[in-house]
Amino acid sequence: MKAPIGIFDSGYGGLTILKEIIAELPEYDFLYLGDNARAPYGTRSFDIVYDFTLEAVNALFDKGCPMVILACNTASAKALRSIQQKDLPLMDPAKRVLGVIRPSTELVGSLTKSKHVGILATQGTVSSNSYVLEIEKSNPDITVSQRACNMWVPLIENNCFETAGGRFFIQQDVEALLFNDPLIDTIILACTHYPVVQAIIEEFVPNHVKVIAQGPIVAESLKAYLLRHPAMNDSLSKNNERVFITTETPSSFDKNASLIFGSAIQSEHIVL
Ligand code: DGL
Repeated sequence: MKAPIGIFDSGYGGLTILKEIIAELPEYDFLYLGDNARAPYGTRSFDIVYDFTLEAVNALFDKGCPMVILACNTASAKALRSIQQKDLPLMDPAKRVLGVIRPSTELVGSLTKSKHVGILATQGTVSSNSYVLEIEKSNPDITVSQRACNMWVPLIENNCFETAGGRFFIQQDVEALLFNDPLIDTIILACTHYPVVQAIIEEFVPNHVKVIAQGPIVAESLKAYLLRHPAMNDSLSKNNERVFITTETPSSFDKNASLIFGSAIQSEHIVL
């Protein structure tokens, strides 16, 4: 039986990825799972992020998804490799779990001229050093600086990012990153929540610095993946359907998610 692509994030962030994937692959069906009740993941330990992510992947597999995109950098950094190498062979070797870090790090060499790149991310992603290590593999000539923006996900999850307090934290973190390395000409928003505040970030960045959201990069990479894997592509349903499930109260998810997604969302509740 054909089934949708599963998209997972700790909360609303994955919607910024889903939106771009839908723009690239509109006919495909998607099942979005936000673990909003337990967000943010960014300040949690490796073990907790791994456990929560595995629970979410299991739930999406139980609902039939042949593949799951971890539309969350923190989960991609802390859980993806273990799930791919240790769990997937036992769960269902025909299924796939993909992350969002590799597509961005592979592209970054073509984006920066100064060869100085900034990473804005959660504490979990920064501590994992995933971006530094991955960029070193594909582009050893690039200098990478990171900044953990601990307040941003809570501000976005609670829809408070446009307040004076919200703008203060965003300005502080962006300026700290650029102060640390003034040669940065490319900033990757290495947390899928951050495109929600991209316009505010850009206010605090000089004109010559590019701020890169991952959505379009991940969407293009998924499209290429499905072309290379026709059996997986054939197992995916294509009826333009989008279903949303959340571990939070659906009515509060729907309000915030609709704003981020750009069209009305009616979610269902799930217990992981
Ligand atoms: N969207 C997640 C990411 O890309 C946010 C993690 C969190 O919940 O802190 O890292």
